[in-house]
Amino acid sequence: MSNNQNMSVWQRLIKSLTKANELGREEDVMLDHDYDGIKELDNVLPPWWVWGFYITIGVSIFYLASTWVFGRYNQYNEYDGEVAEFAEYKAAHPELFSDVDLPQLTDEASLAKGKQLFTDKTCVACHLPTGAGAVGPNLTDKNWILGGDIKSVLNTLAKGGRPGKGMVAWESTISKEDRQLLASYVLSLQKNFVAGKAPEGDLWENGVKVGGEGATAAAKEAATLDVNGEKLNVFKGGIEDQLLTFVASDEFKNATPEVLKEKWFDFDNITFEMGSADKITADSQGQLENLAKILKANPAVKVKIGGYTDKVGDDTGNKALSQKRADFIKAELTKLGVGSQVTGAEGYGEQFAKVDEKASDDERASDRRMALRLEK
Ligand code: HEC
Repeated sequence: MSNNQNMSVWQRLIKSLTKANELGREEDVMLDHDYDGIKELDNVLPPWWVWGFYITIGVSIFYLASTWVFGRYNQYNEYDGEVAEFAEYKAAHPELFSDVDLPQLTDEASLAKGKQLFTDKTCVACHLPTGAGAVGPNLTDKNWILGGDIKSVLNTLAKGGRPGKGMVAWESTISKEDRQLLASYVLSLQKNFVAGKAPEGDLWENGVKVGGEGATAAAKEAATLDVNGEKLNVFKGGIEDQLLTFVASDEFKNATPEVLKEKWFDFDNITFEMGSADKITADSQGQLENLAKILKANPAVKVKIGGYTDKVGDDTGNKALSQKRADFIKAELTKLGVGSQVTGAEGYGEQFAKVDEKASDDERASDRRMALRLEK
């Protein structure tokens, strides 16, 4: 027997919460039940438990009313709330979720960083330091295989090119910030077209696709161009297109002789017979006539003709052949009445050829070309 006076505050609290019987008094509350020696005492439920139980009933009534009577706390609006909250977060931090929302950078500093990355990340190996293309396509023209807006280029850099083509998915090796710098730099290359690999893919202008297939050898799309009311039959994105656009641009207006010297336009439809310097196809004649019309319409514009061969054969022979071909084109243009606008013709032979001489004939075709550049 203990008496209340001897109990500490703590013991009294425990006692009031449990109403447990004191040790040694089990006999008083023993029931008759005896299960293989396990006996049952007639203890009351401890008040702490009973209160807890009543509280849960209270809470359940509160939630029942809020949910079913007042319509709060329902899982649908709870879900909608969380989705909205996430959308808000995503809008505030687009860079965390996708590079496709990254804007194109145009400031000098970013483009300079992009240019450095273009070398550091080995892009130059396949696209050349100028971007004119080797294994990979020419990045300085307006034609894009995989899309020419910032979204598409970012996607190309992250996910790579078509299977088996060789363009790597850089997602795991180049950070998002660097991919943004690279994509912005790549898009800036169009400001300064460098003749190299022939255009591939669709024609894009200012981030918008304007043509179907571009002027690729495989899929040229016929189009007509209007020059002073006369309709020229051309290929979309071909040399006539490029020339007229360039001649009308501010870029041409402001271009220095040095800039013009680096900007060559490839003829996309001039074919000499194998080894010959004076036999061209009927299509080729058409392209020369187009050029003559464009020159007549722009009498202030002067052009220089360049001839190039692939690496097969000996250097001197190639140079001589390309010189004769360039001379031939100059002579044809003279016949067409624009000789005074052709300032020169030069054969470069295989000096600028990029494809190995052991490569297939198809691959070497991009090195065998005639081109022109403008002079003022
Ligand atoms: C191993 C060679 C290789 C390397 C290295 C390479 N590329 Fe490419 N790239 C390609 C090829 C091949 C394609 C064409 C893919 C296709 O046809 O689907 C291409 C396509 C592209 C395109 C799309 C062009 C278009 O017309 O749509 C862009 C942009 C590009 N590369 C940028 C880069 C950048 C930036 C780097 C450096 C981080 C790089 N590439 C490194 C081979 C390469």
